Amino acid sequence: MRALSVASECVPLVKTGGLADVAGALPGALRAENIEMRTILPGYPAVMAALDPGAAQVMSEADLFGGSARLLAGRAGGLDLFVIDAPHLYMREGSIYLGPDGQDWPDNPERFAALSLMAARIGAEGVALDGQDWRPDLVHCHDWQAGLVPDYLDQFGGQCATVLTIHNIAFQGLTGHHMIERLRLPRSRFHPDGFEYYGKLSALKAGLMRADRLTTVSPTYAAELMQPDFGMGLDGVMRARRRDLSGILNGIDESVWNPATDPAIAETYRHPAGKAANREALRAEMGLPETTGPLCCVVSRLTEQKGLDLLLAALPALLERGGQLALLGSGDPGLEAAFREAAREDGVAVRIGYDEALSHRLIAGADAILVPSRFEPCGLTQLYGLRYGTIPLVALTGGLADTVINASPAAIDRGVATGLQFHPVSADPLAVAIDRLCDLHAQPEIWAQMQANAMRQPVGWASSARAYAALYRDAIATA
Ligand code: ADP
Ligand code: GLC
Repeated sequence: MRALSVASECVPLVKTGGLADVAGALPGALRAENIEMRTILPGYPAVMAALDPGAAQVMSEADLFGGSARLLAGRAGGLDLFVIDAPHLYMREGSIYLGPDGQDWPDNPERFAALSLMAARIGAEGVALDGQDWRPDLVHCHDWQAGLVPDYLDQFGGQCATVLTIHNIAFQGLTGHHMIERLRLPRSRFHPDGFEYYGKLSALKAGLMRADRLTTVSPTYAAELMQPDFGMGLDGVMRARRRDLSGILNGIDESVWNPATDPAIAETYRHPAGKAANREALRAEMGLPETTGPLCCVVSRLTEQKGLDLLLAALPALLERGGQLALLGSGDPGLEAAFREAAREDGVAVRIGYDEALSHRLIAGADAILVPSRFEPCGLTQLYGLRYGTIPLVALTGGLADTVINASPAAIDRGVATGLQFHPVSADPLAVAIDRLCDLHAQPEIWAQMQANAMRQPVGWASSARAYAALYRDAIATA
């Protein structure tokens, strides 16, 4: 089977969040299922620079929303890619989504419609690769940036099956309806059963209405999406498509996240005892003194979603018990300032920024990782925590609910707990959970058992790759 993955970011080339990790890992994971997946990416500066010199032009567009474009086929970052070389859309410095003013690039609707349109052309026309016709049996679309693929496929007469994965329903690709013609879409589809959303055009809704199958990145988030509190205005659509929706958990790339081989950490380890040297190195690096309480870390975008304002409110509960916090993150300027301020307290160290290597050292050296998200489609950092024997303390929501076994008395008795969960997602329950974390940390036998359980829990891609493969086959058979 051949599949085309359509993503706006992809590790190791360009990343703002977990979507990039997933898009980067899926092709390798699916190889074991006999699926040949190629990925189509926008030709951002980092992608163009990484593309092998042998990359060849396989398609062209005289006018791709304001300039000419070439589709290149080649390899970069260990991936088989199609790259859209369209400097007028992608060749700009800074964030891939935001301009220097911190707002979305004004032409984001065109930039990602272009991604979807070129993907649909590959699906409909096929591409000559090494003298062969490369044509996907299925197109796997990620988030709103690929939401228009099924519409364009339909326009171009493409027959391949489509799957749309929702990584985060908060991002919907909304734009004014005056853009419909500009984006080369049929106005006849501008109605509630098409891509109309309260008078606007929604790229995500377009895909949700039209893709053959919908997935999201955990079973619990799939269920949550059908409720008004989580569906963000699209819960009705999700309910209407319930039979075609499934939740498949993300895995982590175990060649990158493995404490036994990780080149970024102070000392590699196979057993939780090996964390001690990393903890010591981390305390030294972050300027934190020795204490007996748990050293907790956070690696996160600083946004409303991640609930870190709740952590600020609950922080005294940790510090009173001799616990410490080491945080790495960036995003909302208000939260950045609040954490900088919090770092004036003893026992709190904060690094504002994005730092891949430090994220590994934090997760290897910390005793626990805190993920108090208001909603979390899957979440990856709690999975890194499990792999590294770093106990996750998480909100009971989305993928956090599906990947952590809460240290309830029953789970502790049965020796199966891997972390802690709290609910409802607000500051007081978080403070209570932090207290419980400190209690458990002070009981070495229970703590060691939880660490061992955590490190044994499968968090790789194997079972999810099987689930995607089965879904693809089913989608192709019934499309
Ligand atoms: P989301 O995609 O919502 O941000 P995930 O947990 O799925 O949440 O993925 C976040 C990814 O980004 C993880 O790989 C995490 O390690 C990484 N990450 C987030 N913030 C930072 C940061 N400041 N420095 C390094 N890595 C980060
Ligand atoms: C989104 C979600 C996160 C998920 C990631 C990858 O960014 O916020 O929970 O892990 O996508 O699917």
